[in-house]
Amino acid sequence: MKTKRLISAAIAAACLLGSAASHAQGDPKRGEKAFDECRACHSTDAGANVVGPSLRGVVGRKAGALDDFRYSPAFRRSDITWNRQSIDAFLTDPQKVIPANRMPFSGMADAKNRADIIEYLQTLK
Ligand code: HEC
Repeated sequence: MKTKRLISAAIAAACLLGSAASHAQGDPKRGEKAFDECRACHSTDAGANVVGPSLRGVVGRKAGALDDFRYSPAFRRSDITWNRQSIDAFLTDPQKVIPANRMPFSGMADAKNRADIIEYLQTLK
């Protein structure tokens, strides 16, 4: 009796952990679709800056690092390196992470969408 309950509790815990992990991971395929919200301003081709800088290779890059894009002074002054955490915070509330930046985007509230987009950005090496 007791063992059975323990086992089902363990299974429930494992399921919870599993879904939490896949949630945090994000899905690059879904991210590519969600990236439609960004595409008007961001190309994923190297060197192709439009309204915003190209996002090819953005993961691991310092904020405001492309020589051929005219970033805002706020971006050039910032001391941020783009990784999962910093991109997640930036997409949640761009003005909070880099005040006075010029990305005309009010933020993305959905954590799953953000995780998917970040996973997609990771593929743009
Ligand atoms: C309306 C245009 C626009 C939209 C939409 C937009 N961005 Fe931006 N983005 C910009 C601009 C402009 C900058 C540079 C801001 C500055 O210099 O202050 C920027 C900067 C960035 C940077 C920093 C790049 C670097 O080289 O430091 C990231 C990352 C980024 N955007 C991701 C996104 C993502 C992901 C989306 C979609 C969810 C998105 N942006 C939507 C215009 C946009």
